[in-house]
Amino acid sequence: MSILNVEHLSHGFGDRAIFNDVSFRLLKGEHIGLVGANGEGKSTFMNIVTGKLMPDEGKVEWAKNVRVGYLDQHSVLEKGMTVRDVLKSAFSWLFEMEEKMNEICDRMGEASPEEMEAMLEELGTIQDMLTMHDFYIIDSKVDEVGRALGLDAIGMDNDVTELSGGQRTKVLLGKLLLEKPDILLLDEPTNYLDEQHISWLTRYLQEYENAFVLISHDIPFLNSVVNIIYHMENQELNRYVGDYDKFQEVYAVKKAQLEAAYRRQQQEISELKDFVARNKARVATRNMAMSRQKKLDKMDIIELAQEKPKPEFNFREARTSGKQLFVTKDLVIGYDEPLSRQLNLEMERRRSRWWEPTASERRRC
Ligand SMILES: Nc1ncnc2c1ncn2[C@@H]1O[C@H](COP(=O)(O)OP(=O)(O)OP(=O)(O)O)[C@@H](O)[C@H]1O
Ligand SMILES: [Mg+2]
Repeated sequence: MSILNVEHLSHGFGDRAIFNDVSFRLLKGEHIGLVGANGEGKSTFMNIVTGKLMPDEGKVEWAKNVRVGYLDQHSVLEKGMTVRDVLKSAFSWLFEMEEKMNEICDRMGEASPEEMEAMLEELGTIQDMLTMHDFYIIDSKVDEVGRALGLDAIGMDNDVTELSGGQRTKVLLGKLLLEKPDILLLDEPTNYLDEQHISWLTRYLQEYENAFVLISHDIPFLNSVVNIIYHMENQELNRYVGDYDKFQEVYAVKKAQLEAAYRRQQQEISELKDFVARNKARVATRNMAMSRQKKLDKMDIIELAQEKPKPEFNFREARTSGKQLFVTKDLVIGYDEPLSRQLNLEMERRRSRWWEPTASERRRC
């Protein structure tokens, strides 16, 4: 049974086609890696399946009652909320239930015996729901995820809009994990994360029982958490069973086979064309030429994707600079308040240095 089913999807921006009649399915428990070069359309695909973007054509179908959690590549956070507030907002639906429970309790005084019975039953259901979803241990759950992602070191009571890109990613990721959705959609979650937290996320995803779709350019990370690869290239989306390394193997074989078939077909085309050109004028051979021409017209022409230009970097030789490239003395970086202590940095050609100023150096500055 598919959790998500996408059929005949086509989309473009202006005259730039992104998808041409692609299909995709997500089955229970699948851990999918969505890969492809920059600009191929991975984030666009996520925006389409989450309903943020209407496709030009095609069908997107989710199974009923599936809760989807999406970590966007460019998510924003609201000003005035602390790290703890954002994490706690993962449970907002449970707080709404608690409110409902309190309302029922308030109304109980005036209830008839029959109404009372119905109310008690509803209270029981809500109570069970709250217990099952960790409502009474929310604070410890929030602290646990906060610690795992290093958010406690940032300060759980700091305003989220004052955080750096990496810190914001961690907060959003923490919230998503606390929400425990049925499906996780993650668009480059390791961007900005440091090594220790990538390891934590790796373990988390390895043990994740539900399905997820993960976009990442981090190959070792992908290899350790996914079991299916969807590869996006030239407006196509192709499914490969296995991790990223397995995909690369199969892809290389497929590409080599296609190239060999292309070369064989090009050779055949040129021979047929040559035959037609030499024989179409003569009455005796015209019929044969015509039949070769028909064969040419009916051929399914194999097309090879154009090789994408590889980036190339050249650094021109410049005049040799002075020995010292730059020096900082007690440099403090910050906005309204300092973020760093006094920094003393020195960069020389071929070597850099950081030092703590001595008391006499401090006096001289
Ligand atoms: N709203 C938009 N309007 C016009 N063009 C867009 C829009 N969103 C994306 N594009 C274009 O569509 C293409 C696919 O973009 P997308 O962000 O989906 O790529 P991606 O595969 O996620 O790349 P990356 O790996 O760099 O994140 C790009 O050429 C991009 O410039
Ligand atoms: Mg993207």
